[in-house]
Amino acid sequence: MSWITDTLGSSIGKKLLMSLTGLFLILFLVIHLIGNLSIFSGDGGLAFNSYAVFMTSFPLIKAVSYLLYFSILLHAFYAFMLWILNRKARPVRYAVEHANQNSSWASRSMTLLGSLIFIFLIMHLKDFWWQFKFGGGYEFEIDANGNRDLYKLVILQFQYTYVVIAYLIGLTALAFHLWHGFQSAFQTLGLNHDRYTPAIRFLGILYAVVVPLGFASMPVYIYFFMK
Ligand code: HEM
Repeated sequence: MSWITDTLGSSIGKKLLMSLTGLFLILFLVIHLIGNLSIFSGDGGLAFNSYAVFMTSFPLIKAVSYLLYFSILLHAFYAFMLWILNRKARPVRYAVEHANQNSSWASRSMTLLGSLIFIFLIMHLKDFWWQFKFGGGYEFEIDANGNRDLYKLVILQFQYTYVVIAYLIGLTALAFHLWHGFQSAFQTLGLNHDRYTPAIRFLGILYAVVVPLGFASMPVYIYFFMK
């Protein structure tokens, strides 16, 4: 067993865990986006409320969601550890850095972007997930299917200018984080190949643009067009 703890304790092991948890979070985001798009189905929120009940009560999905919370915490914790290790290894920055010639701004700002996403996530979970799961002062109405009307809470939250702005900042950070993170995860796993690497890079850029834009469409559309 000690090789497992040795590997996970090493820098490479930490990066490996970060890429595996990162890829799992990338998969989660696609499912979350597709489910949330039911907000636009024009049925007053019935499909969206049923989806939320399914996601929080179906046993297999419930089990996967514990893996999700664990992955988020592990990903953030190991990012923090690697940041500390890097600072210890190089406490004084080089006098002359040609960083922008050797790497993109997104790749050099992963810790900052990750921290912004983490703050966004705390706010997001407090507003929706916590209210829905544990209750936090908001009285849910009941929709025509007998489900709690989470849709109404989403519409209500996105009437506030500061909430919409906070979401747009969080989603911009997410876009840049994914811009580098997607292909970096594959690289860490050693999936480098002349033929596949350009395709993975292209897919990563596509993902980093389409997924955050898809999420951003909700607060923006609701703020401007739904009352
Ligand atoms: C901007 C559009 C978004 C909307 C309208 C939205 C809506 C919601 C709602 C209503 C919930 C609680 C019900 C449920 O679990 O399905 C939730 C949970 C959650 N959201 Fe979002 N979300 C958005 C974007 C995001 C983004 C960008 C992230 C990640 C960076 C995220 C991460 C999560 C997580 C981790 C949960 C808990 C899931 C679980 O318990 O299984 N969401 N979201």
